[in-house]
Amino acid sequence: MIARDQAWQLLTAKLANQNLRRHCLSVEAVMRALAKHFQADTEKWGLVGLLHDGDYEVSKDQPQKHTLLMVEWLKEIDENDPEIISAILSHNFAHTAQNPPQNQLEWSLNCCDELTGLIVAVTLVQPSKKLIDVTVESIMKKWSQKAFAAGVHREQIAACEERLGIPVRDFVTLSLVAMQGIASEIGL
Ligand SMILES: [Fe+2]
Ligand SMILES: [Fe+2]
Repeated sequence: MIARDQAWQLLTAKLANQNLRRHCLSVEAVMRALAKHFQADTEKWGLVGLLHDGDYEVSKDQPQKHTLLMVEWLKEIDENDPEIISAILSHNFAHTAQNPPQNQLEWSLNCCDELTGLIVAVTLVQPSKKLIDVTVESIMKKWSQKAFAAGVHREQIAACEERLGIPVRDFVTLSLVAMQGIASEIGL
């Protein structure tokens, strides 16, 4: 398995946009927390989160290529871990028709991907625009307001109940705490 440093190098070489990098860092932090929750491999789950959108800029006009390019780049540096490859592919199965999510790692990525966006949106409407001032209550309130951050697919997040056995509120709590832990790195 590649080291975190090497993964970060690959990510920053391929992804220039700061917000996209921050999104990847957020998903990494939440994935590590979920790995801890499930007593799984925190390094591996973190890498999946960090790298899942690495080809987003390059594939932005060809959504059917999103994740496939990332997997090619990983193979070029001899990263062939089947769980990492499959998990990255699984989050874009809607466009690639490959690898729908099937296990805890893959469902974790699918469920938290959208939630990190909602948490950022809730943070940005706080007067301070700081994660430290965001509460689980404030997120749950915005969760019910469908017009708020309307692009966030609530049902994809809510799948955490059925697929991961974690109630939405607990899933939100775990994710918020994980993101608060890297607040300065993601500028929030
Ligand atoms: Fe993606
Ligand atoms: Fe993503």
